[in-house]
Amino acid sequence: YSTGTEYDVVVIGGGPGGYPAAIKAAQQGLKVACIEKRGALGGTCLNVGCIPSKAMLNNSHIYHRTQHDLKSRGIEVSGVKLDLDNMHKARLRAVGGLTKGVEFLFKKYGVDYVKGTGSFKTATEINVTGLDGKSTSTIKAKNVIIATGSEVTPIPGMEIDEKLIVSSTGALELSKVPKKMVVIGAGVIGLELGSVWARLGSEVTVVEYLGAIGAGMDPELAKGFHKLLTKQGLKFKMATKVNSARVEGDIVKVEVEASKGGKPETLEADAVLVSIGRRPYTTGLGLEKIGVELDNRGRVVIDSEFKTNIPSIRCIGDVTFGPMLAHKAEDEGFAVSEMIATGHGHVNYDCIPSVIYTHPEVAWVGKNEAELKEQGVNYKSGSYPFVANSRARTNDDTDGLVKVLTDADTDRILGVHIMGPNAGEMIAEGVLAMEYNASAEDIGRTCHAHPTLSEAFREACLLASFGNAINF
Ligand code: FAD
Ligand code: NAI
Repeated sequence: YSTGTEYDVVVIGGGPGGYPAAIKAAQQGLKVACIEKRGALGGTCLNVGCIPSKAMLNNSHIYHRTQHDLKSRGIEVSGVKLDLDNMHKARLRAVGGLTKGVEFLFKKYGVDYVKGTGSFKTATEINVTGLDGKSTSTIKAKNVIIATGSEVTPIPGMEIDEKLIVSSTGALELSKVPKKMVVIGAGVIGLELGSVWARLGSEVTVVEYLGAIGAGMDPELAKGFHKLLTKQGLKFKMATKVNSARVEGDIVKVEVEASKGGKPETLEADAVLVSIGRRPYTTGLGLEKIGVELDNRGRVVIDSEFKTNIPSIRCIGDVTFGPMLAHKAEDEGFAVSEMIATGHGHVNYDCIPSVIYTHPEVAWVGKNEAELKEQGVNYKSGSYPFVANSRARTNDDTDGLVKVLTDADTDRILGVHIMGPNAGEMIAEGVLAMEYNASAEDIGRTCHAHPTLSEAFREACLLASFGNAINF
């Protein structure tokens, strides 16, 4: 890139929000640069989030299955051993391949990749400090897209050293399996990474402030999920808060007590994972200098066109409103660049799926039952268990169910909640149905291949619409 050029669009942050925004803008003929400071593209998601966590989830699942689930299938193996170093190498291969892939896409579509930290000098000029921390340059932009993402929310007084007290980043890289692990927070990260280490042999205790796991999932599924994870060996301390954690030699002593108050108890652990949520990241961006407005939670305030209070500066992804999900950031990246290029762009926030990649997986879209009750909606519900689905039976993988919630008057699908094998793939059908305003009857009358797990979705729709299904 050259400092003299005035770009149509400069994107700050090369994560799943920023890099699709840059590509989409370039595809529409705009001159685009993307500034990224971590030395690799792909953001949190590709480098230390979605991708490495799914590599560890998949491989720990295979290890665990090989040990515990093959004999009854007629497969005898012996001498199964964990080679954690190699498992980490597999994770790094997945990450390396994908981040290089984004770099290739930038070249293909003519996006200038600027390696360094961006900071506003003025609303239309951005200072860039190179990766060496010394070299500086300034680039000019007609439009800026802030896509700087989020960082882990710390617990006051608990220092994350990424060795004994870790964030998700350290928890992905542990060099040995901790004998005992304490996970603080039974949200998405706690349950996914808690599952990884439990499968690899750790004794995992999850401490959750609230009375339910799964950070906002349908209450019925949360209960069933809690039971299944307990059966898999995870221990839960619900409605419990953490007072402190102190490192003593190689162990951490974690003091907890009931959320309402009570007698404190001390848990000992070889590793403690802090996973109580993430917060927007704007450090060093110089927003205060140019007066970009933040809300009381540190999120960049935007309007329905992603515009901040300075209209040429827009913002997407984890650093602004909405769920902190890669596909939400990506959709916004796509839409914001269409908006800049054409004046139109759209994200349907009612149709953003959530997935927890444990086993079984949990996936949902739209409203859950607690929300419908709270809003006084007249709804119907159809629940179909995987134990009645032929494919789940043949795979001997029958934990879970599909629950479809519909408007009692119009039969329109309001929410889909799946706990089961491949739920994360299956939810796409629910998302598409909702995007197209399908009724449960529409899906109930759509031919689904047999034998597939997706038949359970169809049958749940039949139950919601007609009150009965064929195979249940
Ligand atoms: P980010 O991905 O955080 O990218 C922002 C980028 O901006 C970073 O690379 C950062 O280095 C860069 N940056 C920041 N400030 C500057 C600056 N001043 N100058 C230059 N560059 C800067 N979501 C899912 O949908 N599915 C999952 O399975 C999933 N798994 C996850 C697992 C873990 C362990 C974690 C932590 C998160 C996971 N997420 C998942 C969430 C997902 O990673 C985020 O929602 C997503 O990365 C947000 O994208 P973003 O582009 O807004 O921000
Ligand atoms: P989260 O918001 O999912 O869960 C945090 C949990 O910690 C909640 O259950 C909360 O009640 C609990 N908690 C809060 N303070 C606490 C305290 N002091 N003591 C005990 N418990 C406490 O946050 P998490 O798991 O850190 O994930 C962060 C973000 O990353 C999420 O917003 C999620 O969207 C994203 N993510 C998405 C994934 C996916 O899509 N599969 C995977 C991993 C992360």
